[in-house]
Parts: sequence; C-alpha cells; structure tokens
Amino acid sequence: MEFISGNETLHNKQTERKQLSTTAKLLLACTGGIGLGITIVCGSFVAPAFRKICLPYVPATTEQIGNVLKFLPKNNSSKLLDIGSGDGRIVIAAAKHGLHAEGVELNPWLVYFSRLSAFRMGVSKQTRFFCKDLWKFNIKSYNYVVIFGVEQMMKDIEKKLVAEATDAKVIACRFPMPHLKPESIIEDGVNTVWFYDLNKK
Ligand SMILES: C[S@@+](CC[C@H](N)C(=O)[O-])C[C@H]1O[C@@H](n2cnc3c(N)ncnc32)[C@H](O)[C@@H]1O
Repeated sequence: MEFISGNETLHNKQTERKQLSTTAKLLLACTGGIGLGITIVCGSFVAPAFRKICLPYVPATTEQIGNVLKFLPKNNSSKLLDIGSGDGRIVIAAAKHGLHAEGVELNPWLVYFSRLSAFRMGVSKQTRFFCKDLWKFNIKSYNYVVIFGVEQMMKDIEKKLVAEATDAKVIACRFPMPHLKPESIIEDGVNTVWFYDLNKK
C-alpha cells in the first residue's frame, strides 16, 4: 500500500494547476493569434469603406466577363489593365483569351489570390498583379483598360483615362463614363458594358 503525505498531495495539485495554466496560456495565445489574423485579413476588405471614394470588392459575374471579352481581340499582343482587379477573374479571362493582362488592386490578399489563381489556370506568364492604389498607377502603356467601378468615381476615372491612356480602348462595366460617347454598348441589365475608343474622342 502506498502512503501519500499531505505535502505530496499539495505538490501534485500545484503541478496540475501549473500545467492547466500553461494550457490556458497556449489556448489564449492561439485564439488571440487567430483573432488577430482574421482582423488583419478582414481589415483589407473593410478599408475601402473609409476611403474618399468607396470602391468595395464586388466580383464580376460570368455574364459580365463574357460581355467584356466580346470587345477584346483574340490572341494578339495587346496589353490590358483591369483597374481594381479584385480576385483577378477579368485579368485571367483576358489572358486566356490571348492578351497580356495586368491588374492593379489595393487589397494584398486579393492580389495574392489572383497570382495563385493565374498560376493554377496556367496563365502566370501572361499576367501581372500590382498591389497599388489605382489613383496613383500610371495607365499610359495599356491598349485596353477595364473598369468595374462605382458611380461616384466615374467622373474622376474618366479624367485620369483621358489624360493618361490617350490611345486606349476602355471597357466600363455597370457604370458608364459621364461625358465620353461610347462606340458600342452591350445592354444586359447589371451586366451592361460600355466600349470607348479614346483615340476617337
Ligand atoms: C467592384 S470590384 C471589381 C473587381 C474586379 N475588377 C472584377 O470585375 O471582378 C473593385 C475592386 O477595386 C479595389 N479597390 C478599391 N479601391 C482601390 C484603389 N484605390 N486602388 C486599387 N484597387 C482598389 C477593391 O478592393 C475591389 O477589389
């Protein structure tokens, strides 16, 4: 028969408590870390709401992408830019169509996701994604510019396009340019797309 002294019982209880508090600390650190991670990722998606012009992440629909592609030449060396490229779906679709396509996007998570999607789709070499502010990004070197924006930004983006992308063709999704005259329109409700040739303005 084993004899356990009072001192030994007290010591065992203290060790048990110490182990419990280490587990509690580990749990706290894990949940804290997960919480911080979620806050950082979500912050990038909420941040646009606090900017002067709120341009949230709303991905293009399949119909919208189909309408954009109708204005693009197939398999030529033209360079396309999607302004606010989101998860990269328009850039990837344009690259699969045969163009060299690039996107500029402020949300770093969407940029990482876009690069990964492009890799998975086998169009890494034909695509590039920049994690930059669209208002500070020069759009001079592009033949095609796609913009799926919000109504409040169209006046300013039109000014930027006219000043920088003098020879480009512009495809606007959902909202048209306020002053430019479109060459062509695909009327399709929320998936409507306007086509402009800045060379002919
Ligand atoms: C309406 S979504 C369009 C996404 C994509 N073009 C598509 O059609 O699927 C607009 C995107 O612009 C990004 N955005 C908002 N403000 C921006 C800024 N200042 N510079 C770059 N991207 C921005 C948002 O994060 C969002 O992903």
